[in-house]
Parts: sequence; C-alpha cells; structure tokens
Amino acid sequence: MTSQLIPTRRAFPADDPIFALNAEAQARKAKGEPILNATVGALLDEAGQLVVLDAVMDLWRSLGAMEVAPYAPIAGDPAFLKALVQRHWPLVATAGPACATPGGSGALALSLRNFLEPGQTLLTTAPFWGPYATLAAENGMRLATAPWPAAGAALDAAAWDAALRGLMKAQGRVMVWLNDPCHNPTGRSLGAGDRAALLGLLRDLSALGPVTLLLDLAYLDYTREPEAVASAMRDYAALGAEGRVLVGAALSLSKALTLYGGRGGALAFPWCDDPALQAALTQSCRGTWSNCPRAPQALMLRLAQDGKAQARLASEHRHWSEVLAARALALDAALEGEGMAALRWQGGFFVTAPSASPAAACEGLKAEGVFTVPLPEGLRVGLCGLRAEEAPRFARALRKVALL
Ligand SMILES: Cc1ncc(COP(=O)(O)O)c(C=O)c1O
Repeated sequence: MTSQLIPTRRAFPADDPIFALNAEAQARKAKGEPILNATVGALLDEAGQLVVLDAVMDLWRSLGAMEVAPYAPIAGDPAFLKALVQRHWPLVATAGPACATPGGSGALALSLRNFLEPGQTLLTTAPFWGPYATLAAENGMRLATAPWPAAGAALDAAAWDAALRGLMKAQGRVMVWLNDPCHNPTGRSLGAGDRAALLGLLRDLSALGPVTLLLDLAYLDYTREPEAVASAMRDYAALGAEGRVLVGAALSLSKALTLYGGRGGALAFPWCDDPALQAALTQSCRGTWSNCPRAPQALMLRLAQDGKAQARLASEHRHWSEVLAARALALDAALEGEGMAALRWQGGFFVTAPSASPAAACEGLKAEGVFTVPLPEGLRVGLCGLRAEEAPRFARALRKVALL
C-alpha cells in the first residue's frame, strides 16, 4: 500500500533517541542488572523517585473548578504572564507583548514562526538541547551553532562574530536562542565578561538589521550561584531596555515548578511596546493550540499572591540545588580521582563529559551498565537522576572507556 504520508514525513526514527536510551536502561534494570542511568531529564530524589515540589502540589490541590475548567484567554491570562515574567525580572512593570505557551518548547516554536522566514537559519550554542534542531526542522528552518565555552575557557568571540555577521549578511535578520544561565547540557553559565562580550556583538549587529535574542530560561531555579544568576538577568534586562536588540524569554513551569506534565510556560518580551508583536503572538496561539491549559496559569497566580508559598518554594529550590551541587561535586571529585578533568557544574540538570568519539564512548559505557546521552561534543550526564554515591562507578567506567 502506498503511504498516505507525504514523502518528506516518512523517514523519521520511531523513537526519540533519549527516550529510547532510557527505555533500554530501564529494560536492563528490570532484568536485575545494576544499571546506572544518567539519561534521565527530570529531577529524581536519592530513591530514584520523581521530585515533585510540595509547595506547588498544595497549590495545585487548592485549585477550584473555575481555575481549571474554563478556556484561558487565547494569549494567556495577562496576570499570569506578568507574574511569570516577574519571577525572573522582579523590576519589570509588565510582561510586554507575551503569550502563554505549552512549556518552554511552545515558546521556542512560536519564536521561530514570528522572527524568521521559512528556510532561514537560527543561531544557538554548541552543544545545545537536541529538540532545538527538531523545532527548527518542524518549522522549515535550519540551525547553526557557535561554541559554548569549554570549562575554564573564554567565549570564542571571533567565532560568534563570524556566525552572527554571516547570518545577517545571508538573510538580513538574526535570531539567537541562548540557554543561559544554567545551560543544558554543559551545566555552566556564561561568565560576566563573556556575557558582556556576546551582548556587545549583538548590539553591534543590530545596526545591520533586526536582531532577536531569545533567552531560554528553563533551569534558573537550580543553581549553586543564585547571585550570579540574578546578575545575568540584570545584564539581559539592560540590553532589552536599550531597545536595539529585541530581548525576549522562553519561560517554563516544567522544571521551575516540577509541572512537566502541566504544560505551562510563556513567550514574553518585557522591554518591547510594539502592539503588532502582541497581535502576531495571539494569532500564532490561535492558529497553533488555540489556547493553553488554564490550571498552571491559575496556580502561578495563586503563588504570586501567597508569600508563604513563595518562601516554601524558595526553600525547596534551595534544597534541591544543594542536592544537585553535592552530586556535581561528587562527580568532579571522582573524575579527578581517575585523572580526568572536572566538569564544574554551576546550574541546571546536566553536565557534559567531553569525548572525542561520543557514540563509541556511549556504547562502551552501556557495556558497563552505564547509560549517558551521546552528543557531538561529548556525553550528557543527567545529574538530576544520578546519586552522589554512583559518581565513583561512573568515573571508573568513563576512564575505562576513554582508555579503549
Ligand atoms: C534547554 C531546555 N529548554 C527548554 C526546555 C523545554 O521544556 P518544556 O517544554 O517542558 O518547558 C527544556 C526541557 O528539557 C530544556 O532542557
């Protein structure tokens, strides 16, 4: 029988590669093997159970019928949008042109449709969260990269400048997706000097054509450097307020509130006052998902009005940030104990161990019962699912594979 699928939609892998690796790890574990599964992308406690923040679940249980059942406004509840933006930038007076989205993924997708033409190219960092490429492809766009600094190294400003100017020359507009601070998958943030250098390049580029900087802020609540995160956010706000580069944010409740399945998030441009942008976002929402789930928006509003719940949430974030920091320290100590370089986690759920041949290293580790995600630059290790006491085994296995 001939396929009803159009030809360009026929050759995709049946499974998302990360989910497939995770399934393989689970299947081997179920057969009794002692598996170390570092492919997981959600925060797990020391018993391997999904962490669900109590402050959030209590609010969730308190939601009434009218906070769950009715449609939300097409572009989202304006009070929700403002509350979510103010979690990250307490000083902004309004969310600016903004819309609710199903998670950060929805925000990323809508940014593509509104700031690039089909066939154009988006710029992000290498390494990057894999679905960025899927999102670009689904919107008929390409993805180019410039290097994220290696641990202890400075930003390659010349490479960024060349990539930015090349794209501006080729397509007359540029959009950058920047998952900073708390970058997935390296677990590191840009240093203040590197950030200033990058923002300077974007500012200069904006003299040549429209430049959009979309900050992907998925992991900000999990860091060992809250002061540095706050300072980074002030730097981005300052660039946005200048009005030359359009600065926006893809915001997500998935990790921030452990509401992965609630599908809450937003796309917002707090320093912009262009009504055409708001109209375009609303149109995109109507033509894509019509409107987003109301419950996460209602929950966020309750949180914004409840100082006690905010304090409790902050203390839960601190606790889990400390757990992640302890896992990262244990991993670095174990890696250094095996003669390998420390990975220097600063925030987020992951670190990436550099590797010259990640696919082969991943296979070698699997033979040792250790599961990681191969990326072009190395192996992604989910600190979010790794117990501190598993670190020595992980480091030994990695050392063995590196020596093969
Ligand atoms: C870097 C990054 N951005 C965005 C997301 C989007 O997640 P969601 O769509 O669940 O908000 C994720 C999720 O893993 C991520 O790692």
